Amino acid sequence: MFDTATRARVEDYFDRTAHDVWTRLTSDAPVSRIRATVRAGRDRMRETMLDRLPADLTGARVLDAGCGAGQMTAELAARGADVVAVDISPRLVAVAEERLPSALRTRVRFVAGDMLDDGLGRFDAVVAMDSLIYYRDDEIAAALGRLGDRTAGRIVFTVPPRTPMLMAMWGAGRLFPRGDRAPLMVPQSAAGLARAARTAGAPVPREVGRVTSGFYISTCLEAA
Ligand SMILES: C[S@@+](CC[C@H](N)C(=O)[O-])C[C@H]1O[C@@H](n2cnc3c(N)ncnc32)[C@H](O)[C@@H]1O
Repeated sequence: MFDTATRARVEDYFDRTAHDVWTRLTSDAPVSRIRATVRAGRDRMRETMLDRLPADLTGARVLDAGCGAGQMTAELAARGADVVAVDISPRLVAVAEERLPSALRTRVRFVAGDMLDDGLGRFDAVVAMDSLIYYRDDEIAAALGRLGDRTAGRIVFTVPPRTPMLMAMWGAGRLFPRGDRAPLMVPQSAAGLARAARTAGAPVPREVGRVTSGFYISTCLEAA
């Protein structure tokens, strides 16, 4: 469903190359000023996404698609959701599992694997924070179709917007720093994603929020 080479690159990046940087960014440990703006922006985006869901999620089955180090997972479980937290990086899943407060352990099932695996089951809602940012619009549309078939409620996700700055960086290869083998982020427009979703017969997303904080620029979309 996702391009195999892209997915392998993302897995390698988060499981190996960027593992330490990512676990630090997602902790309370001190980081550089630039990374602090990213951390603050991501905190705001997490709140923006959670605001799209009921405050009380007791009994709701929620997929945290691309859970990373588990920040969203913990918030969802704290609101009462039964969470399936899946990530393609087994080492990040291990970090997420270790960081989850013990009182929430019974509410979360951790899985190392692909977020589109049908075996994960059916959901009341899906959240995918910054985990679809490496995929093309047709791949995201196909993912919305696959997840939509198994989701009763909303699919809330983020993408980098096609702002002039991000597009200029993208054109110059700056969103693809070859040195650290980071995967290429693909800026998207809400209109383009809606078009791709219609073409794929998938739930059509619309923009519901945007966060700009230093180098963190991200759009929140929702498909129902
Ligand atoms: C930028 S991180 C965000 C992690 C987390 N959602 C957060 O906001 O802290 C992107 C995550 O998506 C995961 N990911 C990307 N594609 C995936 C896929 N097809 N299936 C599962 N996880 C995936 C990566 O391994 C990585 O942990």
